[in-house]
Amino acid sequence: MNDLYLDKENIPKHVAIIMDGNGRWAKQKGEMRIFGHTNGVESVRASLTAAGEIGIKYLTLYAFSTENWNRPKEEVAALMDLLVKAIYDEVEELNEKGVKLDTIGNTNILPDSCQVALKEAKERTKNNSGITLILALSYSSRWEIAQAIKKMAGEAKDGSLSVEAINEDLISSYLSTANYPDPELLIRTSGENRVSNFLMWQLAYTELYFTKTLWPDFKKEHFYKAIKDYQERERRFGKTSEQITDE
Ligand code: FPP
Repeated sequence: MNDLYLDKENIPKHVAIIMDGNGRWAKQKGEMRIFGHTNGVESVRASLTAAGEIGIKYLTLYAFSTENWNRPKEEVAALMDLLVKAIYDEVEELNEKGVKLDTIGNTNILPDSCQVALKEAKERTKNNSGITLILALSYSSRWEIAQAIKKMAGEAKDGSLSVEAINEDLISSYLSTANYPDPELLIRTSGENRVSNFLMWQLAYTELYFTKTLWPDFKKEHFYKAIKDYQERERRFGKTSEQITDE
């Protein structure tokens, strides 16, 4: 599959990916789990390039969940080191290609080296107008929603937010994705058919695409196949099929 088969008039603005299966990929090869994560970075590059080439505006990657803190501490440390290395290795090229980097999640609790690398890369790419790469780090939906409620409740208590003003748009504006549209498509690799605490508010109308391909094997052609699958679906947002075709 290449991008020639895609309808250029129907490209999603925002695609989110749960990159799963690195550990199993490594195990199949008789290697340590981190070998899978290291190879997963190449798949990040492939999906980002593919997405940029067809004009997707936002790509959100679930790189480290709140729950991932419970993994063995060696794996957590190795993942953080890998992230820092990938940022330093790639920032130049990301910048040249007009990529803007952003993060969502509780990044204040990441190791200092990670926070510094992210801050520098964000600063360096902040004026770019190509695709925005949003890394979800120490992120989970329930954490994000709890944060939003806490903030709203605090403001309601001190009088700066009126309870009557609370509606769906306002809630969206308190989430870490406030600046971004909801994803039209979620991809999850490795054959797991779950959302796993990722963007649960934002995924209300998102098309879900599950593939058995393990993340380190997920390359450009797999990305385009997912987009093609999305394009063949009819998005109804609660309306009837007839209402959609009459529009
Ligand atoms: C899930 O596979 C993958 C992760 C928890 C980490 C993903 C991180 C990367 C691909 C590197 C990130 C780098 C950048 C630049 C964003 P798993 O370990 O859960 O695999 P398993 O389910 O087979 O055990």
